[in-house]
Amino acid sequence: MNERILLVGATGFLGSFVAARLADRPLSVLARPSSDTSVLPRGVDIRRGDLQSALPLHGVTTLVYCASMGFGHIPHLVAQLESSNVKRAVFISTTAIFTSLPSASRSVRLAAEASVERSTLRWTILRTTMIYGTARDRNISRLLRFLKRWPVFPLCGNALWQPIYVEDLADAVVAALDSPHTLRQTYNLAGAAPLRFAELIRQAARATGRQVILVPVPLQAAVLAARLSRVVTEEQVRRLAEDKAFAYTEAAADFGFQPRPFADGVQREARSLNLR
Ligand SMILES: NC(=O)c1ccc[n+]([C@@H]2O[C@H](COP(=O)([O-])OP(=O)(O)OC[C@H]3O[C@@H](n4cnc5c(N)ncnc54)[C@H](OP(=O)(O)O)[C@@H]3O)[C@@H](O)[C@H]2O)c1
Repeated sequence: MNERILLVGATGFLGSFVAARLADRPLSVLARPSSDTSVLPRGVDIRRGDLQSALPLHGVTTLVYCASMGFGHIPHLVAQLESSNVKRAVFISTTAIFTSLPSASRSVRLAAEASVERSTLRWTILRTTMIYGTARDRNISRLLRFLKRWPVFPLCGNALWQPIYVEDLADAVVAALDSPHTLRQTYNLAGAAPLRFAELIRQAARATGRQVILVPVPLQAAVLAARLSRVVTEEQVRRLAEDKAFAYTEAAADFGFQPRPFADGVQREARSLNLR
């Protein structure tokens, strides 16, 4: 049977970069009726569907999964894949499963990974840290816009961060898919090196051509503000103060993963947002 890839999450932030890299192969993408398909490569085979129901798998041999594994549907999806012609599957998971804080979705995500790992598929799981790189990220683009406008930033905790540039992650998805060494393996993927939150803010400010004054805010005060304001959740505030650093030695050895430093990625993002 000829290879055909089904990409799930192709209209998402990461998925659109993966779709661009797979566009010269036999590729189908899953899109909901509401999905913005203008971000997809021209001429790609669009299959309408939803993760709430069975996937349209006719002719598909390979699944690349760039949607969330936190909805509770992965065990059903794995069962469907096992009874289909899909033999190879790459799943994007998250390093957030390593949190030591109470998390509503952690057990769902762990169960999702376990069902993939127990399966008869030739699977690979790629756990990613926070992804950044364009206006579509929901993190660094907001930070850059804030830093361009305001010279002062509240510093809550000074934990380690290791965000990954979206193009590095998209390259890694394709490299892992193609590598013979990644079968039945789980990898952590992150940016080049961990950096303290204060340094991350300074590098982001420099990328917009600004200096920033950091004003330390005690964690308990930030938690209280989150409770009262409900703008962010208490869990989000506590996550700020938790180290999020991950080694990627296995990914480097098995499929040549070599992400760029945050300083490079954030400068590219600032330029793409016309903030420099
Ligand atoms: N972004 C981060 O910082 C980050 C950090 C750690 C891990 N991750 C993981 O990395 C992966 C990609 O993240 P992302 O930021 O690119 O996600 P995203 O932009 O939110 O994209 C999610 C994709 O999943 C699709 N999707 C959602 N629900 C669906 C459903 N019921 N049926 C069919 N498709 C559905 C969306 O389709 P529509 O276009 O129709 O909405 C979209 O294409 C996810 O697994 C995420 O958990 C992300």
